[in-house]
Amino acid sequence: MTLDNRWAGGPDGSGPEPTDLRIDIPHPARIYDYWLGGKDNYPADRAAAESAIAAAADIPQAARENRAFLRRAVRLCSEAGIRQFIDIGSGLPTRGNVHEIAQATDPGARVVYIDNDPIVLAHGRALLADNRSTTVLTGDLRDIEGILAGEALRGLIDPSEPVAVLMLAVLHFVSDEAARSAVERVTEWAAPGSHLLLSHSTAEGNPKRAAEVVRTWDNTDSGIRIRGRAEVESFFTGWDLLEPGVTFVPLWRPERPDQGSTRWMYAGVGRKP
Ligand SMILES: C[S@@+](CC[C@H](N)C(=O)[O-])C[C@H]1O[C@@H](n2cnc3c(N)ncnc32)[C@H](O)[C@@H]1O
Repeated sequence: MTLDNRWAGGPDGSGPEPTDLRIDIPHPARIYDYWLGGKDNYPADRAAAESAIAAAADIPQAARENRAFLRRAVRLCSEAGIRQFIDIGSGLPTRGNVHEIAQATDPGARVVYIDNDPIVLAHGRALLADNRSTTVLTGDLRDIEGILAGEALRGLIDPSEPVAVLMLAVLHFVSDEAARSAVERVTEWAAPGSHLLLSHSTAEGNPKRAAEVVRTWDNTDSGIRIRGRAEVESFFTGWDLLEPGVTFVPLWRPERPDQGSTRWMYAGVGRKP
């Protein structure tokens, strides 16, 4: 597939809209893609990704462990009977995407991917061309109202039924106010029985190395805001936090003893009573 600098679509699913793809500025989606061994990244992204690795060599492992958490948590939602998923800050398609896990349980499970990087839209649309239950949209967490009101989202997601809302490794790219209001709006909007899936960067597991890693995000368009366990727990206000609560990512319901060892991110899942 060829990408040009103007490929994106709005949250209403209205199709391509002109937008600038700034490949000269490192972007979280492409940095993360590089850590996961993907090919959808540019020199500026690779340079930023490598400087984080120079500060902490276990960062790519943390990214893989975060994907493993996603798989475990989506499976839990499927087993709980959830059949609709919204993945905000979904990232570039990789192995074990939400729709692959959810649709393994129920081929009719509906999934909406949302990301603010237009490259995600382009690659997602190519991957999902034949999948009528899944769509990918451009949207920004800082405009949660626009996301939830979008026509394309409303075409697939029924807010009167339980839904799983994923915000994995994305809240740390927005301000305290934006993060809080996005989560609060979802809390108010989601039906009882819905699940909220979060993972979030922290310094608490690596107090000595964290400042250097955070500095490597200074050249990106978003920067990064690490938060502590208490702040991550507070995002679950209005949700029943499922066992084992907010833990370092590999410690969240590990399926094997070798599930991982990094301490760069917290994870948790809440169920709306
Ligand atoms: C580190 S990746 C995480 C991808 C996936 N959620 C995961 O955990 O594997 C963060 C993603 O959030 C997206 N992102 C960053 N800021 C965002 C925002 N304000 N609104 C929507 N997406 C955003 C990035 O483009 C990137 O794809």
